[in-house]
Amino acid sequence: MNMVSEIKGKHLWFDGCDTVELAKEFGTPLYVYSKTDIVSRIAELKECWIKPYPKNRIAYAAKAFCCMGMYKLCENEGISMDVVSGGELYTAMKAGINPAKLEFNGNNKLPKELEAAIDYGVERIVIDGVQELELIESICKKLGKKTDILIRVTPCVEVDTHDFIVTGRKDSKFGLNIEPEFIFPYVKRAIDSEYVNFHGFHFHLGSQLFDVKPFLDATAVMLQLMKDTREKFGFVCDELNIGGGPGVTYINEERPPYRYFYDPVLEKVEAFCKAEDYPMPAMICEPGRSIVAEAGLQLYTVGMTKEVIGIRKYAAIDGGMPDNIRPALYGAKYKGIVANRADEPADETVTICGKCCEGDSDMIIKDAPFAMPKTGDIIAVFSTGAYGYSMANNYNRNPIPGVILVEKGKAEWMVKPQTYEQMICCDVIPESLK
Ligand SMILES: Cc1ncc(COP(=O)(O)O)c(C=O)c1O
Repeated sequence: MNMVSEIKGKHLWFDGCDTVELAKEFGTPLYVYSKTDIVSRIAELKECWIKPYPKNRIAYAAKAFCCMGMYKLCENEGISMDVVSGGELYTAMKAGINPAKLEFNGNNKLPKELEAAIDYGVERIVIDGVQELELIESICKKLGKKTDILIRVTPCVEVDTHDFIVTGRKDSKFGLNIEPEFIFPYVKRAIDSEYVNFHGFHFHLGSQLFDVKPFLDATAVMLQLMKDTREKFGFVCDELNIGGGPGVTYINEERPPYRYFYDPVLEKVEAFCKAEDYPMPAMICEPGRSIVAEAGLQLYTVGMTKEVIGIRKYAAIDGGMPDNIRPALYGAKYKGIVANRADEPADETVTICGKCCEGDSDMIIKDAPFAMPKTGDIIAVFSTGAYGYSMANNYNRNPIPGVILVEKGKAEWMVKPQTYEQMICCDVIPESLK
């Protein structure tokens, strides 16, 4: 349970709202986000990242949870946002976000996506592909515009997390190779380009990280790159982006405070700048998961229950892998509770399974302690705010559930539930089949 969850009477409450009432009013399955939690994470981050260096930036990685309301919340809190596709960019623009608050990442940005980003005038484009500089230059030439860029490199640092979310190792689809014979000619081209303003480097190590050492190792690699760039070309980088990655609590992991990662990184950069007489660059971080994961709760209603005697007790919910694919994708684990009987002891071992035509991959929680769920009970699953809604899909033609934002007892829609009508709106029956 996170900072805004509490048990009052028989029910689970979340940011001042009775979750059982939320389920009744908004229906299930339902994603619930606590504004109090998100705002306090951003405040904690600003305190250690922006306060000591007001030029520093936080760019919330929208891939973790993307919708117009979330962009607006970030803008209201005064932080930038990192987008990775034309769709994320479009969503931000439709939310009325100032494009000068958007950073554009992605290892294979499409020409039309880059064109839109340059036309809108995003704050930074992070080059992440060998041919991208040339492509950006040709678009800038066509539009008569200049754009601001960083270059993402692969720092070749290993991290301890799930293989699927490691991105900073040498063999990665992300980032440019850091070998001197490749990277320096590329950097020189960027410095000399009449179409881009080159600011510096970017790296991203991976996600759900708990150790600061890889951040420090990768920062050291970047500082050397900045030093070499000055020595070779007389060019001083004025920005360094260290990506996202801080880990969160799902089961028993202890979420480190932001200071654990970011104080030593800033100290390392400060020490380098002092020793090398290098102007302190603006530092950018791009956390996604750590801003929204624990602020999210999913609510489901129990339908069928089943006991395989001597083996397992199942409770089937009205959602599953389409609304949270992380257990199937990464073997992700969650904690849950029967929200309408939250005061009862969790004295049974229960598997919360979905309603899809998949077996073990459609289990949201496997073999975990619960009060035995009954038909009609509400199941709450904690820490589901990151990469759940944003990866939701229509498998088995299940509509994507709605999202509500709650704060101190008030609840409002953030995304309405998808309807069957909307789900089929792009279907076309070919003439030849009629
Ligand atoms: C470039 C980049 N920045 C930031 C993030 C966000 O990482 P996290 O959600 O672990 O903070 C990602 C995640 O994939 C990423 O690829």
